[in-house]
Amino acid sequence: MRISEDSIKEVLDAADIVTVISDYVNLRQSGRNFVALCPFHKEKTPSFTVSREKGLFHCFGCGAGGNVVSFLMKLEKLTFVDAIETLAKKFGIKLKYEGGFNSDEDKELENLYEYSLLAMQFFHKNLLETNEGRSALKYLKDRGIDEATIKAFKLGYALGAWDGLYNFIKTNKYEPEIFEKLGLIIKKEDGDYYDRFRGRIIFPIFSTIGRVIAFGGRILIDEKDQPKYLNSPESRIYIKGKTLFGLFQTKDEIRRTQSAILVEGYMDFLSLYQKGIRNVVASAGTSLTIDQIYILSKVAPNINLIFDGDEAGQKAAVRSIELMLQTDVNFKIVSLPENEDPDSFIRKSGREKFLELVEDGKNYIDYVFELASKRNALNDTNSKLKVIDSLLEYTSKVRDPLRREILAREIAKKFNVTVNSVIKN
Ligand code: CTP
Ligand code: MN
Repeated sequence: MRISEDSIKEVLDAADIVTVISDYVNLRQSGRNFVALCPFHKEKTPSFTVSREKGLFHCFGCGAGGNVVSFLMKLEKLTFVDAIETLAKKFGIKLKYEGGFNSDEDKELENLYEYSLLAMQFFHKNLLETNEGRSALKYLKDRGIDEATIKAFKLGYALGAWDGLYNFIKTNKYEPEIFEKLGLIIKKEDGDYYDRFRGRIIFPIFSTIGRVIAFGGRILIDEKDQPKYLNSPESRIYIKGKTLFGLFQTKDEIRRTQSAILVEGYMDFLSLYQKGIRNVVASAGTSLTIDQIYILSKVAPNINLIFDGDEAGQKAAVRSIELMLQTDVNFKIVSLPENEDPDSFIRKSGREKFLELVEDGKNYIDYVFELASKRNALNDTNSKLKVIDSLLEYTSKVRDPLRREILAREIAKKFNVTVNSVIKN
């Protein structure tokens, strides 16, 4: 479907570029224009300018530029149609459509989105309306997930058969090639297909503007040679490292509270959401990436990272510290007791205890200090030096020299040494 030219004009007239860009970057007025740090490349001094009268943005650093539509397309990785629809929604404009597509490429993109949606509806129906779905429904209820949450996240169930989805595709005469591109069915040697997801709870993954782009699937009954979780492969509409599970549903709350709780798993996310903690997102399906941090930091300046209390959790925390320090976002590290994840913890100890734990989050210096102290790694000079060295190593990831110095001072203070000896290192 094509949006009518009139509608596009109407959107372009109504969509104030300063209002739109302000949702993503901190614009500061400077004469007739607005300036900010460019969201498209890393920089320390603002070279990104926006002109309200001209309806244009331009970055003198990286050369990015365009109007309000190209800004959204570039930043949110949207198609032209998606960008116009997003703006229409924001500025309360009702769009008129005509038949036909803009180009072949857009047609494939539209098809991928449309077929993802069809698959999501199929899985969701399986969960709520089939006999086989009953055990999956019971599984979710036993894990404390109620129907409202199931519906809010359109959770689903993939039938046990090898051709549950494939039969649905054949019956409705949909193009299997599109589902294949989404990784939902896989071609066999004889040219036929089989389902990727079988006998699994399905967690649809939405883009930030609410389109279904991929799925995660959890096995219902543990089997030795089957992975517990299986995810869609990457496709034209799904880049793992640039996606955060749940962000579409929680971004308003994250924006409102200016702070996000970042967990690892689908069930961790849903469990917190179910308990009324709504400023949560999950890195689900991949270990945290710098792109995920950038995406999240555009919504909120404060991120609380939650890690399991075990060895693996501590390793993950250290890895994340190095990533987080490459961005300018504020972050705290929250440690769970050993053998707990956010889901198990909140179900055992309740919402208040969980929030207390988050409140108790540590900055990375205190976190590393306390971890070392627990491991008796501060008892002699050599081990103490090692801990300081690793802290300075993390801190060296910070781009801004002023920020680096402030942090170096904090490290010096923590270990009761002079800042000069720390900085000299
Ligand atoms: N994960 C994945 N593929 C795997 C294992 C894990 O994508 N083979 C991702 C999933 O997003 C999962 C998260 O990593 O939610 C955390 O995995 P794990 O801790 O093993 O599972 P839990 O989230 O605790 O799952 P559950 O509580 O359902 O057992
Ligand atoms: Mn778990």
